[in-house]
Amino acid sequence: MNAHTPMLRPDPTSLKQSFALFPSGVVIATTIDAQGVSHGFTASTFVPLSVEPPMVLVCLNRSAQCYDAFLTSERFAVSVLRPEHQDIAMRFATRGADKFADRAFDTGAGTPPVLDCALAAFECSVADRHPGGDHIILTGLVERMRHTTQGGAMVHFARSFHAVEI
Ligand SMILES: Cc1cc2nc3c(=O)[nH]c(=O)nc-3n(C[C@H](O)[C@H](O)[C@H](O)COP(=O)(O)O)c2cc1C
Repeated sequence: MNAHTPMLRPDPTSLKQSFALFPSGVVIATTIDAQGVSHGFTASTFVPLSVEPPMVLVCLNRSAQCYDAFLTSERFAVSVLRPEHQDIAMRFATRGADKFADRAFDTGAGTPPVLDCALAAFECSVADRHPGGDHIILTGLVERMRHTTQGGAMVHFARSFHAVEI
């Protein structure tokens, strides 16, 4: 630990700077609403939660445009990004963007879209929704999944994207 750095009370700016120093993988979380419209956002708050039962979690900001869709849908999917998915990561982090424009997603009948070439993908039924400050914590029971060991993963660290190779 750096003895010369004092512990401070958190303010939003320095808190975000500190949070940004925690390296994390990057995923796209998706769902479909009652009208069959797809919604999604880029997330670094994905956690592989439990093996028995198989569960994951992801946290969504209450101010997100897709918040209502994730609050009301009983299903969501998570696609783990590769280093070459920076454009997709930025598009799904942009409010109002045409997020599913490039046909890179499997849109099965009635199931949330999954990125075709995701490193790993999880299709979930919502297990629970917990309050988490300005976010909601969505836990999901994994019903179907796939993965590949080919290629690297995307990592977000200090506000930029990096590659980790297997
Ligand atoms: C690398 C990265 C990680 C992010 N992680 C999260 C996250 O875990 N939860 C979240 O709510 N927003 C996260 N965001 C921001 C959302 O992707 C962004 O605000 C998105 O536009 C919200 O959805 P909306 O377009 O429906 O408002 C992240 C953005 C980036 C670039």
